[in-house]
Amino acid sequence: MITELKHPVLKTLINHLRESQTDALRFRHIVHDIARLMAYEALSTEPSIEREIDTWNGKRTFEFIDEENLLFVSILRAGLPMIESVTALFPNASSGFLAMRRDEKTHQSVIYYDRIPECKGKTVILLDPMVATGGSLCDAISVVKHKEPAKIISLNLIGSPEGLDVVDQKHPDIHLFIAHIDEKLDSNMYIYPGLGDAGDRSYNTK
Ligand code: PRP
Ligand code: URA
Repeated sequence: MITELKHPVLKTLINHLRESQTDALRFRHIVHDIARLMAYEALSTEPSIEREIDTWNGKRTFEFIDEENLLFVSILRAGLPMIESVTALFPNASSGFLAMRRDEKTHQSVIYYDRIPECKGKTVILLDPMVATGGSLCDAISVVKHKEPAKIISLNLIGSPEGLDVVDQKHPDIHLFIAHIDEKLDSNMYIYPGLGDAGDRSYNTK
């Protein structure tokens, strides 16, 4: 299932990312903010657990999201700023890393590092700002599915209609949240109008 989070705050932040004068530091800060806002929405149905805590009125029991059931997986490199901000919300959640690179000629994704911990029964939240052809995300989802999580959520900032269709066809059982669906893929398989290469924009490379 795909949910586009049509919200003027998200739209404004996304459009600041598109501006060429947005430098790498500000770019990463905006990605932090968007990821947090998206996590807030995407985790709205996550189960809570009751915990007894010490308060100024003695011991009391309150509800908390079951953080230890959450595993955030960042797709390197561009997903790195996203994981920084969402794990700051949930210090007891675990993190995993999957490094993927899109071959510049074939546009096929190549996995070159998998450091995803045990995720059986957990809620896995994949983090990657861009869904262009959808190939990287489809491969990442397949890797995670082999590890038998209870649920897979994907948080993505901008996607092409073509790439999102591919992901939805191949993995209809995951819930993908996207901040904005752009017009199309261009002839180089980049999202149009897009924002360029999110990894390069985040880390001043090219
Ligand atoms: C970008 C992006 C996605 C992928 C999307 O990563 O972060 O992982 O491209 O493209 P796709 O949907 O066509 O597969 P990239 O491979 O550029 O690596 P980077 O994060 O190191 O820049
Ligand atoms: N990767 C990006 O970062 N942007 C695109 O538009 C396509 C792939």
